[in-house]
Amino acid sequence: MQEKVRELWPELDWIADPGLREKVLATWVKAFELSPLEPRDLNEIPFTLLVPNCPITFMEHKRCVVHIARQAAQSMKEFLGRALPIDVDTVIAGAILADVGKLLEYEKAGGKARQSPRGEALRHPFTGVAVAMACGVPDAVCHIIAAHAGEGDLVKRSTEATIVHHADFMSFLPFKNLKK
Ligand SMILES: [Fe+2]
Repeated sequence: MQEKVRELWPELDWIADPGLREKVLATWVKAFELSPLEPRDLNEIPFTLLVPNCPITFMEHKRCVVHIARQAAQSMKEFLGRALPIDVDTVIAGAILADVGKLLEYEKAGGKARQSPRGEALRHPFTGVAVAMACGVPDAVCHIIAAHAGEGDLVKRSTEATIVHHADFMSFLPFKNLKK
C-alpha cells in the first residue's frame, strides 16, 4: 500500500522533514485500510459530489491544490517572509492531507462514489483529523485538515491553513460557475 500511495502522491517528496513525510504517508495508508475505496479509484472518481458530472478526478484536483499551495507559500515567503513566518513543510503536508478523510466519507455504489452514512455524520475534515492524529501528525498540520473547508470559517486559521483553504477553493469554486 505504501508504494501505491507514493505513486498517487509524488509530492510527498517535497516534504523536507523525513519524519513528517513518513507520518503523512502513514495517514494515507491507514485511511485506505479504513476505506471501501482503492488507490486506483482516486484517479477515476470526481473530486466533488457537489458539481454534477464533474469531469476532474479526485487526484487531479488534490494534486493541483498541493501545487498551488506550495507555490503560493514560496511566493509569500519571498515577499512577505520578513514579517510573516510561513512553514512550507506544514503547508505541503496539510494540502496533501486536507481531503484524506474523504476516504472515510464515501462509499461505492454501482461503481460510483457517494456519501456514506458515516460521511453524513462526520465530514472529511473531522475524520481526516482523527486518522492524522492517530498517525502522529503534528497539530499545526491537523489544524489545516480541520479548517480547510467551510467549517473552518468558524476557526481562526493559521497562515498555512489560509493558504491551503484558498488553494482548495480557487480550484473548486470556478467549477460551480461553469456554464453547462
Ligand atoms: Fe475538502
